[in-house]
Amino acid sequence: MIVALTGQKGGVGKSTLAICIAAELLARRHKVLLVDADPQGTIRTWGEVAVDAGQPLPSIVAMGSTMHRADQLPTVRLGYDDVIIDCPPRHGEIQRSALMVADMAILPCGPSSADAWALGASIDLVNEARTLRSDLEVRILITRKQGRTALGRSAREELEKSGIELLKTEVGYRVAFAEALGAGQGVTAYAPKDAAADETRALVSELLLWEKNHGTQEAPAQPAKAGRRR
Ligand SMILES: Nc1ncnc2c1ncn2[C@@H]1O[C@H](COP(=O)(O)OP(=O)(O)OP(=O)(O)O)[C@@H](O)[C@H]1O
Ligand SMILES: [Mg+2]
Repeated sequence: MIVALTGQKGGVGKSTLAICIAAELLARRHKVLLVDADPQGTIRTWGEVAVDAGQPLPSIVAMGSTMHRADQLPTVRLGYDDVIIDCPPRHGEIQRSALMVADMAILPCGPSSADAWALGASIDLVNEARTLRSDLEVRILITRKQGRTALGRSAREELEKSGIELLKTEVGYRVAFAEALGAGQGVTAYAPKDAAADETRALVSELLLWEKNHGTQEAPAQPAKAGRRR
């Protein structure tokens, strides 16, 4: 599957989630390509740290606003089970390009009502992409949630009004995420017993279950790949 972590707002946890999802898929023996579509290069920097620390890591490639072209990501992805794209905030052209190739776009969103309101511009962008691609799946992911606060509960209701489905998994505000990235790892390898790892495993399982139930379209030129689907 091709999953894009996207959204117009900065600092919501796109890169953190992209890395932790990719690292967990790798641990499950999937062939994973992690696409750094952010000029900030968070993924590439993490990759360098991972190599220095001797940690296993997925293939990493930098791509921009032309990634949707047939000779770009659709070609590069052949041979990989999963592609995770980390989008930059605001750069509309890059996000649009990712939305042209993704099977699923995930919009991470903080737990407050203000976070929900800030999602408007991101929803406009994905809806624009969906007018061109009716098969694009979009999900909101509640993240950086602090406890079982009233604010957290109201966010889910607020977000459901957007007309975009929410992922069942919710991710808490947990320092293990930042620590894991600093160690060149994903959180499930860095702190397997932490709640952050439980949430990441649940998220990856939810995505894989979605893929199993809905399937992703196989490229006609690659019929042999069908047997390798999990
Ligand atoms: N679930 C979480 N709990 C606690 N801290 C988190 C969580 N997710 C991300 N962070 C922290 O929040 C900050 C921003 O996260 P990250 O870089 O992943 O966001 P981003 O959406 O990729 O940002 P940008 O839009 O700038 O690319 C980082 O310091 C990261 O460690
Ligand atoms: Mg980022």
